[in-house]
Amino acid sequence: MKIKKAIFPVGGLGTRFLPATKSMPKEMLPIVDKPLIQYAVEEAANAGIEQFIFVTSRGKSAIENHFDHSFELENNLLLKGKKQTLASAQDMLKIPGSYAYVRQQEPAGLGHAIWCARHLIQNEPFAVILADDLIFGQSTMKNMIKNYKSGNMVAIMEVDQKQVSSYGIIGSHDYSSKLIEINQMIEKPSIQNSPSNLAIVGRYILDSSIFAILENQGQGSNQEIQLTDSICLQIGKVKCLGYQFEEERFDCGSKLGFLQANVAYALHRNDLHNDLSKWLKNLVE
Ligand code: G1P
Repeated sequence: MKIKKAIFPVGGLGTRFLPATKSMPKEMLPIVDKPLIQYAVEEAANAGIEQFIFVTSRGKSAIENHFDHSFELENNLLLKGKKQTLASAQDMLKIPGSYAYVRQQEPAGLGHAIWCARHLIQNEPFAVILADDLIFGQSTMKNMIKNYKSGNMVAIMEVDQKQVSSYGIIGSHDYSSKLIEINQMIEKPSIQNSPSNLAIVGRYILDSSIFAILENQGQGSNQEIQLTDSICLQIGKVKCLGYQFEEERFDCGSKLGFLQANVAYALHRNDLHNDLSKWLKNLVE
């Protein structure tokens, strides 16, 4: 199945990273030298996505600028003959019209953010990627699309029992395979109410019928319109699968996850591996 469009909800306030994110979008925080949102867009492109839809909010214009020309910078690098650096400043330029931006006027929840993009999606399944959830290898969406036939699909991973209340959690009759048929979903359940310890991670492929459900979705957890609640309402009518991915995932919405991602990604880089690992060894000894 060909999925052509991906939605990137980037309207969140980023309060967990204040003061860094007071005037800068949290999605622009770098992992080594690349902003989180670029990893998300690269993963989508790697999965064959051709149209990139950002649900933004006030104060997020740095994201639009990042995926556009920076004439002064590019001209300067060109004049100085810095070809490689120039290429890194230009590698996210896509054919005109590939990037679209729609505003979420208030931070009313992930479900509301997705609903804000409804006019840009026709009768077609589409992807959703949350940039905060950085998954190593940037191939998770590609693998999900490979396994997708119809309905809704979410990426899932095991989390510690104590962490279930931070996630959307799924339930199933059969947990034995990599693709699980989901029969229950709860957004941020208590440990007692949690159907399992399998959490939804920020990768979705959704049937466009979700928009009609989101339209009438009331507030859920945290007084927000939750995407999980709408996907859950469709269970029984629209098949929902959970895809257990194998790659390492970093929760870059948390300070610890963000720091771990920076160290892990830097250690994978040829230009940084030796010096950084030497320094880390000294630090812990
Ligand atoms: C969102 C989703 C949640 C999911 C999580 C993954 O929550 O609502 O279902 O488990 O992303 O990161 P948030 O982290 O925005 O509160």
